[in-house]
Amino acid sequence: MTRFSTDVLLLLLVTSIAVDGRDMIRLPSETSRFFSGDDSNDGDDDSVGTRWAVLLAGSSGYWNYRHQADVCHAYQLLKKGGLKDENIVVFMYDDIAFNEENPRPGVIINSPHGSDVYSGVPKDYIGDDVTVNNFFAVILGNKTALTGGSGKVVDSGPNDHIFIYYTDHGGPGVLGMPTSPYIYADNLIDVLKKKHASGTYKSLVFYLEACESGSIFEGLLPEGLNIYATTASNAEESSWGTYCPGEYPSPPVEYETCLGDLYSVAWMEDCDIHNLRTETLRQQYELVKDRTSNDNSAYGSHVMQYGDLGLSVDHIFLYMGTNPANDNYTFVDDNVLRPSSRSKAVNQRDADLLHFWHKFQKAREGSPRKLKAQKELVEAMSHRMHIDNSMNMIGKLLFGIEKGSELLQTVRPAGQPLVDDWDCLKTLVRTYETHCGSLSQYGMKHMRSIANICNAGIQKDQMAEASAQACITIPSSHRSSLQKGFSA
Ligand SMILES: *[C@@H]1O[C@H](CO)[C@@H](O)[C@H](O)[C@H]1NC(C)=O
Ligand SMILES: *[C@@H]1O[C@H](CO)[C@@H](O)[C@H](O)[C@H]1NC(C)=O
Repeated sequence: MTRFSTDVLLLLLVTSIAVDGRDMIRLPSETSRFFSGDDSNDGDDDSVGTRWAVLLAGSSGYWNYRHQADVCHAYQLLKKGGLKDENIVVFMYDDIAFNEENPRPGVIINSPHGSDVYSGVPKDYIGDDVTVNNFFAVILGNKTALTGGSGKVVDSGPNDHIFIYYTDHGGPGVLGMPTSPYIYADNLIDVLKKKHASGTYKSLVFYLEACESGSIFEGLLPEGLNIYATTASNAEESSWGTYCPGEYPSPPVEYETCLGDLYSVAWMEDCDIHNLRTETLRQQYELVKDRTSNDNSAYGSHVMQYGDLGLSVDHIFLYMGTNPANDNYTFVDDNVLRPSSRSKAVNQRDADLLHFWHKFQKAREGSPRKLKAQKELVEAMSHRMHIDNSMNMIGKLLFGIEKGSELLQTVRPAGQPLVDDWDCLKTLVRTYETHCGSLSQYGMKHMRSIANICNAGIQKDQMAEASAQACITIPSSHRSSLQKGFSA
């Protein structure tokens, strides 16, 4: 049993964990002579208006270290950029810095040689206060809708600029949260429309890292809301973790987890070193796209942009301020962080397996730690098999042996939303989970299948019947548990 599981896991890891490369050299600009006065006529005058930011890490668990590390890093760069704590709202589960697995207690890093990014981060919404409801209430500035937390909201006015950054696992049409339910694209878009209708911002920039993150805006985010969004991936591909153990560049040897995400560190490491009065959103989009694509290999993703693309001529400064220490580091196209053929990324969805695998490999033979890591690996793998197999079976039961998998995997043409009836999607998610157990983090990848079932006109009772046949029992593992509630 032991031998077999380990070999299977190794094989899966070797075949599914992807690898590719980029160089991380930081070059100061040599063109500081171009800098002075650059922001005098570019419309970026911020003498009126306030900069606001909402930062959200949607995961918990040490194997998801990187998402909270990303958010802490984002806080530090905005703070250095001159934003005030009262204008930066942070959501993170906060179970990393003092996690028993953390080799540097009280410290979080976001790159192999990076310094601590945890110190000073406001704990506005932590633990079970990291909820969809609070996220939406914060964006809308609606204090009475909050439950728990610091009470800080985006209390913005018509001249203000808002930056929202989210990082975590996702799936088609959905973004994960450390609590249930998850964030559904239609609800998020409604909140953004409501915020726009309230007239309480001038423009809003949304940076989004998650698997299939393009599906959150694709065919859904209209123009005219003064919103510019970029996403780590298109609507039908994974996003990628980076600085992962065993890869290049790797974290310090004592870390058995990835430290960052490819798209996220690409924009943040760029912001860290430039005078942001001299760099536009468009320029950053281009270089982040380049760094995240990994030369269009299978091991990178396609960074996308949505909404009012005209806003991309704005300087980043307008949203994030700029660190005075970078005043002489003017952005020029040839000093951006370039990819190298040596660096390697890990599929967002395999990063937990990678953690358990490294923990397993490094633990002493016969130690309780080794046994625990092995158990975690086997449980994670069997959860995946249960979800994949049951979904596959449901497809066959609903549409027949031949058509089943083809129909579940259908991707609608670009520009079309994932699903026509979002209530149907949410209802069928609950129906599936009632019979088969929680989708959990990994199961979000099947949102497109469930959306396609809706698009094919399947009703709740048909879904219930198929789910009941596909899942005779709910597995006992904590990943299948519905204790925290439904994903929808
Ligand atoms: C704020 O939230 C409360 C509670 O959900 C709701 O009743 C109220 O209408 C909201 N206010 C605004 C201005 O949207
Ligand atoms: C930028 O360069 C000028 C001229 O060399 C120098 O006086 C100034 O201290 C530099 N600023 C920073 C922040 O390094």
